[in-house]
Amino acid sequence: MSAIVRVRNLSRVFDVSKPWLNRVIERLPKARLRAVDDVSFEIEENACYALVGESGSGKSTIGKMVVGLLPPSQGSVEVMGVDLATEPEGERRVEVRANLQMIFQDPYASLNPRWKVRDIVAEPAVAQGKATDGLAEALLEKVGLSAVDAGKYPHEFSGGQRQRICIARALAGEPKVIICDEPTSALDVSVQSQVLNLMSDLRADLGLSYLFISHDLTVVRHMADTIGVLYLGALIEEAPRDRLFEDPKHPYTQMLFEAAPKMDAFGREIDPPKGEIPNPIDPPSGCPFHPRCPIAVDRCSVDRPELRWIGSTRVACHLAE
Ligand SMILES: Nc1ncnc2c1ncn2[C@@H]1O[C@H](COP(=O)(O)OP(=O)(O)O)[C@@H](O)[C@H]1O
Ligand code: SF4
Ligand SMILES: [Mg+2]
Repeated sequence: MSAIVRVRNLSRVFDVSKPWLNRVIERLPKARLRAVDDVSFEIEENACYALVGESGSGKSTIGKMVVGLLPPSQGSVEVMGVDLATEPEGERRVEVRANLQMIFQDPYASLNPRWKVRDIVAEPAVAQGKATDGLAEALLEKVGLSAVDAGKYPHEFSGGQRQRICIARALAGEPKVIICDEPTSALDVSVQSQVLNLMSDLRADLGLSYLFISHDLTVVRHMADTIGVLYLGALIEEAPRDRLFEDPKHPYTQMLFEAAPKMDAFGREIDPPKGEIPNPIDPPSGCPFHPRCPIAVDRCSVDRPELRWIGSTRVACHLAE
């Protein structure tokens, strides 16, 4: 197996300073927010790599850098051996760009309400100058909708059906890699698993590779071959799926498992454990997780742990053994 996507030492900093005049009056320094901090991982061909983390952990920012919607502050993303940030305009760049598609969380916001579904679905193929006769109809059937749906408008569909339309549109570009940013988070639980099953089937059928972004470990359990866990923009643990579920090594990953919705004896959801996510503009010293960590020692507030291998797991914790 070889990697189709290589992410190396990727960082992204946002300038979140107040306007210049306010800064002068209030004597404030420039404020910089490190949304993504030195992240490296690879996606194998025909595999699903999942990125998991709480809201604000940098998942969407990484997704946007991987598809080339946002330039990195540091580091690089290579897709099929090409770095889109530096590759000059030309055939190779166009080819790689065409092999990347993105599916977003909100199937309501991402479909133009004034376009018929036929035009929405065929759009990536039109952009690539390909023939589109019957394409939308065929793709709609492939994602479990029907050919007659091509003549309808987005408002005539449910959330789950709309996400199927988004998937059909992504497939029209004949991509090799699809970046899925919380693709089922806006859907009812009962519909979520149907859409996830569809995505799994399509991967097998078409030989797709996925970067699957989610805040929910139970969702990625269906899909992922490898899971990377993010905390404050940094990868703090990565392992093959079963390994991570059997033996999570980082205290934060363990906490995520504990926070996964659990039912009590009466079928009611138990509240997940609490804990504030620190301000990313002023992150903690040492290990960024130390203010919330139940097993932190003195060293943790001073030394930042590097990612290191333990068996098939990469983990950033001084006490991971
Ligand atoms: N364009 C932006 N300008 C300033 N801050 C941003 C911008 N985009 C994201 N951020 C910040 O970067 C961090 C990571 O955001 P994001 O990647 O959206 O996280 P996630 O998808 O995991 O919820 C958050 O603190 C967010 O507020
Ligand atoms: S390095 Fe220390 S604070 Fe960080 S996760 Fe490990 S034990 Fe907790
Ligand atoms: Mg997000």
